[in-house]
Amino acid sequence: MPVITNIEDLKRIYQRRVPRMFYDYAESGSWTEQTFRENTSDFDDIYLRQRVAVDMSGRSTATKMIGQDVSMPVALAPVGLTGMQHADGEIKAARAAEAFGVPFTLSTMSINSIEEVAEATTKPFWFQLYTMRDTDYVSRLIQRAKDAKCSALVITLDLQILGQRHKDLKNGLSAPPKLTPSTIANLMTKWRWGIGMLGAKRRNFGNIVGHVDGISDSADLGAWTAESFDPTLDWNKVAKIKEDWGGPVILKGILDAEDAKMALQVGADAIIVSNHGGRQLDGAMSSIRALPSILDAVGDQVEVHLDSGIRSGQDVLKAVAMGAKGTYIGRSFVYGLGAMGQAGVTKSLEIIHKEMDVSMALCGRRYIEELDRDILLIPENFEGRWQA
Ligand SMILES: Cc1cc2nc3c(=O)[nH]c(=O)nc-3n(C[C@H](O)[C@H](O)[C@H](O)COP(=O)(O)O)c2cc1C
Repeated sequence: MPVITNIEDLKRIYQRRVPRMFYDYAESGSWTEQTFRENTSDFDDIYLRQRVAVDMSGRSTATKMIGQDVSMPVALAPVGLTGMQHADGEIKAARAAEAFGVPFTLSTMSINSIEEVAEATTKPFWFQLYTMRDTDYVSRLIQRAKDAKCSALVITLDLQILGQRHKDLKNGLSAPPKLTPSTIANLMTKWRWGIGMLGAKRRNFGNIVGHVDGISDSADLGAWTAESFDPTLDWNKVAKIKEDWGGPVILKGILDAEDAKMALQVGADAIIVSNHGGRQLDGAMSSIRALPSILDAVGDQVEVHLDSGIRSGQDVLKAVAMGAKGTYIGRSFVYGLGAMGQAGVTKSLEIIHKEMDVSMALCGRRYIEELDRDILLIPENFEGRWQA
């Protein structure tokens, strides 16, 4: 077993073990992938200020996200088809998150269903909602999340229409994979993945199959999902969903200060500054670059979280020191899951935690609450000055 010291190591093992179709699905951005690339590279433009001769004993990365205790300000982002990256992937990721003391967010487009994840865990997780044209189905989904005692609803606002990822079209992405000569050839080299999948609880979309009329197999499903996202979603509908849910609501996919103010008006408990990991509007700004102006606009009135591009604890430190109250990792935990299942997710959390803790100490801080922009060196024009 190789010595794993960083997220990149997990990614290399992940690439070897998981079928090409699902690796490509995770490791892609939309169109030219400019936003996907800049999500990570823009973190490098911010420097950390090294401080010395400061007592670094008794440190803690514990804090709260939407009032809930977390062992570090990092949650697992909702990731569709996680159960195709590894057998029972959602269950394994949720268990790893629970043991680590960080929130797990289950995607509407998960393989394991809400009920299956609830049964396999002992603490509440968060549920991510995609709004669909079929409002009865959405109401039932919200009720199922309530019944499963989910402790927050994450409403994703940036995917009413799908940004094109070239590789998914070329690979004919589906769950379970369609057996063509090229997928069969690739699957034959992924025996570990295949054996795991034979024993998986489920190999189709657990929140959808059996819960939507007329969807009995994955062939119907492809057509259904393409047509079913609600293109009429607006702030009034968001407010209505919040009312139906009745609990904490996190609005995901905010990249503009004006939208952040709208989120505030509908009473969001938190917003996630996110461009969906560079998978939607290619050419949009990276999340970390968009963060300062959103914090300036609403940061004192609503909890601001961030995702997209986090591959290390130093990235988390930078986002939190800038003012984010929490962050989310998508691909960083998927790499671990695909590489080594539940132990791999734990490994990615351990890596990020250690990187964050040690870097925080070397910046002369001991607690999350002590982090502020004073530990950062941010280029003067980091947010950009744009023509009106
Ligand atoms: C493979 C994959 C599937 C995703 N599926 C969903 C989803 O079902 N719902 C959602 O709100 N976001 C989804 N996202 C976006 C993530 O929640 C998150 O915003 C993104 O992964 C953050 O960027 P990162 O991967 O660079 O950390 C997905 C991301 C990836 C990589």
